[in-house]
Order: sequence, then C-alpha cells, then structure tokens
Amino acid sequence: MNVLVAFGTKYGSTVKVADAIASEMRNAGHEVDLVDLRERVPSDIGRYDMVVVGSPVFIGKWTKPAQEFLHRNGKALTEKRVAMFVCCSDVLFEEKVEAARKMYLDDVAASCGLEPVAMGMFGGEVDFNKYSMFTKFLLSKVGAKEEMEKKGVETSKPYDFRDWEQVRGWARGLA
Ligand SMILES: Cc1cc2nc3c(=O)[nH]c(=O)nc-3n(C[C@H](O)[C@H](O)[C@H](O)COP(=O)(O)O)c2cc1C
Repeated sequence: MNVLVAFGTKYGSTVKVADAIASEMRNAGHEVDLVDLRERVPSDIGRYDMVVVGSPVFIGKWTKPAQEFLHRNGKALTEKRVAMFVCCSDVLFEEKVEAARKMYLDDVAASCGLEPVAMGMFGGEVDFNKYSMFTKFLLSKVGAKEEMEKKGVETSKPYDFRDWEQVRGWARGLA
C-alpha cells in the first residue's frame, strides 16, 4: 500500500509516535510518506491507499493543522481507508478514558463523516517547564498539575508516558 501518516504536534512528542507508526508500516513492506502538518497540509491524497492521521489534544481539541487536514480532505478521506490516533494525558486517568476516546476520536471521526478502520489513543509527554506563562495559567485553571501530582507524576521534570509497545502493536495491526 501507499500510506500517508500525517500528524499534528505542538511540543514535539507526537513526532516520535508518528515515526514509530510509519516505521512499523515500512517494516511490513508498505510505502510510507510521513508528514508533519506544521510544515505542510497535503490536499491531494488521491494516490494513497491508506491515510493515518493523528494529533495531540489541547483543551479537548486536535491541533489546528490536523483539523485543517481533516476538513480540507473531508470528501476524499471518506473514500479511503483511514486510521486515526491521538496523544493525550487523559490516558493517565482511568475514569477519563472512555469520555476521552469519545470526544477526541469518535466525535472527530463522526464530524468528518469518517468510519476509521482503527482509532488509537496513546499517551504523550508533559513538561511544565516548556510551557508559556499563559499555558501554565490555563493549566492551573483546570487543576492539571495538581491532578497529575495526585497520580504520582513529578511535574518539575518532563514526564513521558508514551507506551511504545502499544503504539507499535497498533501500527502492526494496521499494516
Ligand atoms: C495546554 C495543554 C492542554 C492540554 N489539554 C489536554 C486535554 O484537553 N486532554 C488531554 O487528554 N491532554 C491534554 N494535554 C496533554 C497533551 O495532549 C500531551 O502533552 C501531548 O503529548 C502533547 O503533544 P505534543 O508534544 O506532540 O505537542 C494538554 C497539554 C497542554 C500543554
């Protein structure tokens, strides 16, 4: 298959997730184009047999370039094999996972008229030292830091909760 793996990211942790997905697909013998949607938003997806699109979640939403990709290619995507994934911190909270899966994947797919062959919800990375004053303020409003600390996360340093076996296993399933 010709496969497009297109992803959004803001702080960079989704880059390696998309890269791991692409590398599993390549290992299985597929031709893969890996596109960082911050750099360009492809609008002609005609030549791909499968499109894998993913984004981290910020305040409940996909990144702007990832949303733009879905909307720009709306009709064409309905005729393709599509898989979607998100990287997010709600995976750390058992009680939030079901609602998160619905909001970040099911509802996004439905809003574009898509019926993906697979939808992956993965962990990401948080690093409060990287965030701007405004972002820290936003996060403090929703009590994000305290919530994580209650889970035993040390928020004074980067916390990487990407599960590579999960990501690679999901990609092998697609391949
Ligand atoms: C300002 C901000 C808002 C966030 N909002 C959410 C959210 O609503 N739900 C969620 O599950 N994760 C949320 N996260 C966690 C990010 O999705 C996670 O850190 C992700 O790995 C970031 O990806 P990136 O490094 O590729 O940009 C938020 C993180 C930040 C900094």
